[in-house]
Amino acid sequence: MEREFNLLGSLPRCVRDVAARRAGKEESRKAALEFGKEYFDGTREQGYGGYNYDGRWLTVARRAIAHWGLKPNDRVLDIGCAKGFFVRDLRAALPGLDAFGIDISDYALKSAHPEAKPYVLNASCENLPFPDNSFDAVFAINTIHNLERKACLQSLREIERVCPNRGFVQMDAYRTEREREIFLDWMLTARTFDTPCGWRNMFDVAGYKGYYWWTILEHDDSVLT
Ligand SMILES: C[S@@+](CC[C@H](N)C(=O)[O-])C[C@H]1O[C@@H](n2cnc3c(N)ncnc32)[C@H](O)[C@@H]1O
Repeated sequence: MEREFNLLGSLPRCVRDVAARRAGKEESRKAALEFGKEYFDGTREQGYGGYNYDGRWLTVARRAIAHWGLKPNDRVLDIGCAKGFFVRDLRAALPGLDAFGIDISDYALKSAHPEAKPYVLNASCENLPFPDNSFDAVFAINTIHNLERKACLQSLREIERVCPNRGFVQMDAYRTEREREIFLDWMLTARTFDTPCGWRNMFDVAGYKGYYWWTILEHDDSVLT
């Protein structure tokens, strides 16, 4: 069964000024790893450069609903939900869908979209506070790679436990040495990164059988180096 799925394929490409971020990278990385105000609402060098609701997750929510065949009363979880924008948009796109989010950032959860706030809580992907097989879809978008390799494995097992065969993870990856260099210059919070082949091996070791896609920074016009 085809397990690659570009869930975020509807989002616009963003322009990244890699050279600007390269300068002062270590300071910025230290700040970003706190997943606090600097990371979400500080400068672009420190992270998102202002993470505000703009409705862009609605198109992703519609793609998820169609791909997973979700219906009212189904339960879904967004792991690393940040300010709950995807949780909010999943609920808006399919009234009656029980969408929840978890994150370890008190700052993001406190700043969550008001319509998502009742449905997001502080928890870590390594230890999901939910029973086995309790979700119809689980999304972990650019979240798991923020952990060390052993904790990544544990998080993948947790996703498979609460949502067998129906998870989705998006991981930082590179296919060439050039992509690896751009990635190392740009990334702030990743602790584990690999080629798609390396990640697939980890999925096998963890027994993860859900869907996946990669965040790959290609050297083209959208990356200024
Ligand atoms: C790159 S952001 C992605 C946010 C959102 N999923 C998106 O795609 O815009 C990574 C998120 O993972 C969260 N995070 C980091 N470590 C985590 C952990 N152990 N468990 C849950 N969330 C975590 C961060 O606080 C942050 O909100």
